[in-house]
Amino acid sequence: MPYNTHIKKACLPLAILLSIFSFGCVRGGLTNTDSHEYYNGMVVCAYPDASQVGLDILKKGGNAVDAAIAVQFALAVTVPEAGNIGGGGFMVYRAADGQSNTLDFREKAPAAATTNMFLDSAGNPVPDMSLSTHKASGIPGSVDGMVEAHNKYGKLNWADLVQPAIDLANSGFKITKELAHDLNKTQAEFKKLNPGKTYFIKDTPWKEGDILVQGDLGKTLTLIRDKGWYGFYDGPVADELIAEMKNGGGIFTKTDLQNYHAIWRKPIIGKYKNYTIITMPPPSSGGIALLQLLHAVEKYPLHRWGHNQDSTVQLIVEAERRVYADRSKYLGDPDFFKVPVDSLLNPAYINQRMKTFSWDAATPSASVLPGTFVGYESTQTTHYSVVDRDGNAVSITTTLNNGFGSKIVVKGAGFLLNDEMDDFSEKPGVPNLFGLIGGTANSIQPNKRMLSSMTPTIVEKDGKLFMVVGTPGGSTIITSVFQTILNVVDFDMGMQDAVDAKRFHSQWLPDEVYMESGALDTLTRQKLQKKGYKIINDHPIGRVDAILKTKWGYYEGGADPRGDDTKLGY
Ligand code: DON
Repeated sequence: MPYNTHIKKACLPLAILLSIFSFGCVRGGLTNTDSHEYYNGMVVCAYPDASQVGLDILKKGGNAVDAAIAVQFALAVTVPEAGNIGGGGFMVYRAADGQSNTLDFREKAPAAATTNMFLDSAGNPVPDMSLSTHKASGIPGSVDGMVEAHNKYGKLNWADLVQPAIDLANSGFKITKELAHDLNKTQAEFKKLNPGKTYFIKDTPWKEGDILVQGDLGKTLTLIRDKGWYGFYDGPVADELIAEMKNGGGIFTKTDLQNYHAIWRKPIIGKYKNYTIITMPPPSSGGIALLQLLHAVEKYPLHRWGHNQDSTVQLIVEAERRVYADRSKYLGDPDFFKVPVDSLLNPAYINQRMKTFSWDAATPSASVLPGTFVGYESTQTTHYSVVDRDGNAVSITTTLNNGFGSKIVVKGAGFLLNDEMDDFSEKPGVPNLFGLIGGTANSIQPNKRMLSSMTPTIVEKDGKLFMVVGTPGGSTIITSVFQTILNVVDFDMGMQDAVDAKRFHSQWLPDEVYMESGALDTLTRQKLQKKGYKIINDHPIGRVDAILKTKWGYYEGGADPRGDDTKLGY
């Protein structure tokens, strides 16, 4: 059996784990009924103030990359659970002329990292060591990513893109009910992990409308505004970061920081029906998994079966089972492990994988191993989508991993550290925070990037921009992006309806299907249960923020009502 049942994190089921990290992912709040027709540009992201920052940049004549950079920094202030300068992410870019590119600003393991660094002397994972300690943090990539993106595609001045975030940090902003809830829920951890005071700690409970001021973060952002890359990876901020690591038992060095470089990578590009999917290559598993899933369901009449009907759900779950099994073995940082991209995306291989699927009963996951090839070849994240008046498009997913990352605020520099090291496979067969398992491909090695599920994606139709899409949600990211694309392409939904529609998720192991409440009618649920599907009621899955270019030429946004997500256009 490929699955080691030694589950770390105190043997909590995936549904509970997902609900623990999901704060911020699941902020209920705004309704997104705005159905104006915007022709000039649009920003959809996780927080109203950050969407406003992006829109202002577009209106000033900035392009989609300029707006995205401003949004990244604004989210680092307004969405402390996930927006970040202490984390990393991926960008998929499509220029108006059809050229595409991707930027990998994923965190890296420090040079002193070792394969067994999270195991005790008996070889077992030390609980929470890869999540809430200084060692949990990978070398942050977000600032270098933004600098790289600006150097290559930016139009406005760098300083003008960082300034709105500085203003939000220094003057403060009004927090929403859900951010207040998330901050209150995390007080004990903030206190335990930050012996001095941080601005997230408060003697009386946070409430909606309170103003959150982050002076130290404002100071750090000011250095980034004035010195760019050197404002973060060198000088006082780098010194504060290294001091924080030394005091807390971390293993970063200044050389680690100075050696960090984001990487431009060739996008993964594939077809689904008459659509072209432009998505993220490894070290994300998302792009490959998304294309495998789309191919696995392509020849079936989903439209005729209907959205979330039994045949549709069964087919999707069976495709997901096989794709996540492959993920566990074949996906990792391509600079360290030869990912068999062509084999995994070979239509004949994917069809072969689906052959063991039967309509009569669920395929037990224990009987599905990662595939073999003939001739093996050579709870926190946030997503935002931006388009500008020329038709350039940006899809960025960025993360600290868990909600508020490691919950450790760098003393003096005021930003949160990620806990992305947990995305590595600490030990073969031992699940990470999201229940994902892995092996050699994703083992810890010095300077290696940990495997991700983040799936920022851009879809073309007839050679023209069609959709910009992505979401947070850990392992559920891939399935949420997949279902959102199906909702538009196969179920004829508009962008907002496709985002609102109820989702479900399955990932090979555990052998369960997670359902948002109301996703299935009673009869459909019973039919699936009869065939052996173990259905678990789940909290809201993902927070998809997407943009559709309609056939009439205007942009239609889809801002996830599961959160404070906001679409603004002009
Ligand atoms: O890169 C990944 O796949 C994870 N670190 C993403 C975490 C996440 O989406 C949590 N958010 N809600």
